[in-house]
Amino acid sequence: MQQEQTIKLTSLSTKGGCGCKIGPGELSGILASLPKSERDPNLLVGTETNDDAGVYKLTDDLALVQTVDFFTPIVDDPYAFGQVAAANALSDVYAMGGTPKTVLNLVAFPIAKLDPSVLADILRGAGDKVREAGATLVGGHSIDDNEPKFGLAVTGVIHPDRVLANAGAKPGDRLLLTKPIGVGILTTAIKRDKLSPEEIERVTAVMATLNRRAAEVMADYPVHGCTDVTGFGLLGHALEMAKGSGVGIVIDAAKVPVLPRAKELAAEGVIPGGTKNNYRHVEPSIDFAPSLDELDRFILCDAVTSGGLLIAVDGERAEALHAALLDAGVEAALIGAATREHPGRIVVRGGEEA
Ligand code: CO
Ligand code: CO
Repeated sequence: MQQEQTIKLTSLSTKGGCGCKIGPGELSGILASLPKSERDPNLLVGTETNDDAGVYKLTDDLALVQTVDFFTPIVDDPYAFGQVAAANALSDVYAMGGTPKTVLNLVAFPIAKLDPSVLADILRGAGDKVREAGATLVGGHSIDDNEPKFGLAVTGVIHPDRVLANAGAKPGDRLLLTKPIGVGILTTAIKRDKLSPEEIERVTAVMATLNRRAAEVMADYPVHGCTDVTGFGLLGHALEMAKGSGVGIVIDAAKVPVLPRAKELAAEGVIPGGTKNNYRHVEPSIDFAPSLDELDRFILCDAVTSGGLLIAVDGERAEALHAALLDAGVEAALIGAATREHPGRIVVRGGEEA
């Protein structure tokens, strides 16, 4: 028997999506306090870099790419929540240049409070995305929990020589972003009933889009570094790339695609707490053009859920990759470059200098 869903999924938690990540500052302190174990020589990418997934070499031409991601509801529609959570978890494999193969569902669900059909819809949404990715569900684990949470553990494969770390960017590379930002602000607006059904549909579609096409297209180009833009925001993830790669990064704010109404909503005070934390964390390493006001700066740090890939590609081939991505239906934009100057720092230009 289907009961009408009366409880808004997003009302069951205080934070949503990648915005519920523990902040980068707090997390690095905790991880640094743990004892280091001896390095397994087959571990190609581990916990010491801020990469999206771990990579473990099995043979000379095969490595595993492993990642796990789960969070609280970011949208009210359970099917869409399942799709977004799955697209987000799969994305970390794409960001390393890998191909997802198997997934495990991670479920926390208030089974006495919500109709079981809600969970069925979440799983159906995820299952459809997993199929679209060409991966196979092999199992999962569920617990009864007051706040619903959902995500996937994903295992993919990659050639050990083709791993794309976020630390590979080189001076002269140009940076492409494959989805618009502003997702944290818009999804916070969903919780506050400030979006029209069309606006909810648009931001949901952005989050539910797999990074599969983007990853397939970039595989044919001289890409030096890649990461996906999620909870730490565009500038947070770009800063990890700059620091890890030992390059400076320049971003043209005017070229960064932003979802409609993000600034208007931010001006109304619709800014997730995670976004402000991100801003505080990166601000000492960023030189913002004076023309960018505080709202512009928050938007560039906005905590994204299931964002696009941030790709550092050889400058000579950047226009060609951009065109190929657009051809493939990916909403990509050239947003900046990697430089030899100011390593480990980001310069954000405003519209007028661009
Ligand atoms: Co990631
Ligand atoms: Co992740």
